[in-house]
This record gives sequence, structure tokens and C-alpha cells, in this order.
Amino acid sequence: METATRSVYASAAAVLVRNWTGTSTVPSHTLYPHQWSWDSAFIAIGLRHLSVRRAQRELESLLGAQWGDGRIPHIVFNPAVPNEAYFPSPDFWRTTTAGAASGAPAGTETSGLVQPPVHALAAWLVHRADPAASERRGFLRRMYPRLVAWHGYLTGRRDLGGAGLTANVHPWEPGMDNSPVWDGPLSRIEPAPAGSYRRADLAHGDPADRPTDLDYGRYVRLAADYRDRGYADDAHAFAVEDPAVNALLVASEHALAEIAAEVGADPAVHWERAARLTDAMLDRLWDARAGIFRCRDVVPDEQIDERGVAGLMPLLVPGLPTEVVEGLHATLTGPHFRLGEVPLVPSYDVKGPAFDPSRYWRGPAWFNTAWVIERGLRQYGLLADADALRSAIVAGAVDSGFAEYVDPFTGEARGTRGFAWTAALALDLAVTA
Ligand code: SER
Repeated sequence: METATRSVYASAAAVLVRNWTGTSTVPSHTLYPHQWSWDSAFIAIGLRHLSVRRAQRELESLLGAQWGDGRIPHIVFNPAVPNEAYFPSPDFWRTTTAGAASGAPAGTETSGLVQPPVHALAAWLVHRADPAASERRGFLRRMYPRLVAWHGYLTGRRDLGGAGLTANVHPWEPGMDNSPVWDGPLSRIEPAPAGSYRRADLAHGDPADRPTDLDYGRYVRLAADYRDRGYADDAHAFAVEDPAVNALLVASEHALAEIAAEVGADPAVHWERAARLTDAMLDRLWDARAGIFRCRDVVPDEQIDERGVAGLMPLLVPGLPTEVVEGLHATLTGPHFRLGEVPLVPSYDVKGPAFDPSRYWRGPAWFNTAWVIERGLRQYGLLADADALRSAIVAGAVDSGFAEYVDPFTGEARGTRGFAWTAALALDLAVTA
């Protein structure tokens, strides 16, 4: 290992060791003191370079809280952490009782929402890091049926648009909470009264970097309504088909095919599902004129006229038509996202009316979205841009103290520091360079 790589490895590893709880990794001990679903998947991808055993454990502990209906909850709560440390806490979600009819685990408190399906991709990459150790522990054989059930939930009960794509029912689900892309569908939701709950995030983060109270009121309303319906997937007031979520599902379905072949199951069902999902994405979400995938609001059944980073993440999908790849690349490097001029990828159109370089998902650059886009650029042979983005991810992560997100123009740290997926993904790119 070169000296520079060794130094990135050491500082990133220190974050991952600090955030490890014994069974999983917290994104941040202060702002997010439990286990988060897509965080754990990204974290496992970095952890595999540090300890394959720990990376396996990260995914196993998350999937250990899977619901009977196949959903992997977006948060698995640590019972040792007091309720006041994070809102909404277990006494808000009450999944062990309110979620019982949907198969929520009886002995573990979780949230009732989901997050993007990065897990099969992560499981495959963790396996590949040490196939012999994986084989010895039967890692893939234990993961496979759970991952199949997870994808079954997403493409079954969550096909709310009826066209084969998975839909999300809360802005926390695609993971890009207050993206301006959700402003339209969210405006239909009556916020929960301000006095009916107490935010914990503002005690740990600069309010200028976090979502507004108005957005929070709407998040609380949607989550409470879902809980009060027993987490049943009907009558959702907010339902969207997100291109990043569906792209990650396609990539994970490809990974599931590899896993199936490894455990002696039939990979063909997964290749076929990946192909169907890809076709449905092109049909329902691709906007050829704008050169970007759009989110689709399932309630009025129309594309949302906003450009978010999620619309570029389908570069991760294998086998896209050439004109789609060219369109995405032009948009990524063009005036709306300016890759090349700016080091990382803004989370929202820098020319968009709601652009804000500091506030959570309304403009700042995040490291997980850049990691996905780097992989996509590399897959399509756009190597100069992939290499530059890779270097920017590693340098930006280290220089910002492994920030949760950064100002896309200056690279200045925003949100919390010592953030686990930033460290994990920088470590991954540093050692696989
Ligand atoms: N991202 C949300 C939060 O800020 C929930 O996952 O707490």
C-alpha cells in the first residue's frame, strides 16, 4: 500500500472502529445513534477491507430485523440508547405491536419504513472480498433467501404504480429526505402540529444544514399515518417511483443473480427481473429531452419536473442504451450539475429554484451518491471522469473530516463529522484504486 493510501486507510478505519457497536455501525454516535439500513450496506462495502467478518456481521444484524413481509426496516433501534437521543424513537413507531400484522419482529424495535436496496450488491461485494471465509460461514446461503424476500416485498406490495417499479411512501425512504423533488408531492400533506413532537436532530446539527420544521411536520404526519394503518401498503398519500432506488434495485438484482449461481439457485429469475425493471425505468422515468431520469409521482401518475442527483444514479444500471448513457453523461457534466468544474456531484440542480448549497439534500454533495456515479462512469468506460471523481471522493472525505455532506462548490463540511459511510466509501475507493 502506498503511503497516501495508507494514511486514508488509517483515518477512515479510525472512524469505522469508533462507530462500531459490537454488532453494527452507527452512522454517527450523536445524530444517528442506531443502525440505518442503506448506511449499513454502504458501510459493509468499506468494512470488507478492514474485517470481512465485521462486514458480514453488519449485514447479518440488519437482516436479522427483517419483517415477515420481507421489508428490511430503515432503522433498527439499539435498546441501550435512550428515547430522547433520536426522534422518532421506538415509542413513536411501536412496530412490535402496530407492525405485528405485517410481520414486524416481536423482540426488536425498528422503524416501519424502508431504504434503498443496496444490500444484495453489498453482500456480493463482501463475499468477493474473501470467498473462502464467506463459504466457511455459509454467508451467502444465509443471506440469499432474505434478500429474495426483500426484493419480493419491493416489487410486490410496493409496486404501487402497477407498472413493475418499486415505490416509496415517505421522503425518508429514498434516503434523500428534503430533496426539492419531493416538494410537490409533500405539499399535499397536512403537517403534524409543531407541539406534538420534539426534534432531536437540531441538538446535534446546525439548523441551517437540516430540514425545516415544516418538512419535519409532514414527515411525522406520514409516518404516524402509516403506523396507524398497521404499516399496510394501501392508501398512501405520498407515493413516488424514484430512479436511484430502482437503479439500486436493478444493480442488486444483478448481484442476486451472481449470488444465486453461487448457492446453487436459478440466476435466470434475477436476470429477468433486472431486465423488466430496466425497461420499466426507461419507459416511466427517462426524460430524453432533459437527459435525466425523473421521479414519478404515483398519485397523479406524472413525472416530477425537477432534476435531482437520483436521476443520474441509473448510470449504475448495466446495459443501458448508448443514447441514455450519453444523455446522462452530458447532464452530469453540463450546467445543471457541473461535474468537472465542481469536484463532487451536487444533490440537486445548481440552477434549480430551490438550490441551497448547505441544507441536507437540497444541494450539498454526498459521498454515497458520488460512489454510485463513479461506479457507473467506470462501467461505461468514461474513465477520465471516473478517475477524477474517485480522487475527489477520497480527498473530499479526508479534508472534510469524513463529513456527512459538503458544500458542492467549496467542499466545506456540512452536517455531522466522522460519518460512517463517508469513511467506508472513501476507504473502498482508496484501496481498490
Ligand atoms: N434521514 C432521516 C433523519 O435525518 C431519517 O432516516 O433522521
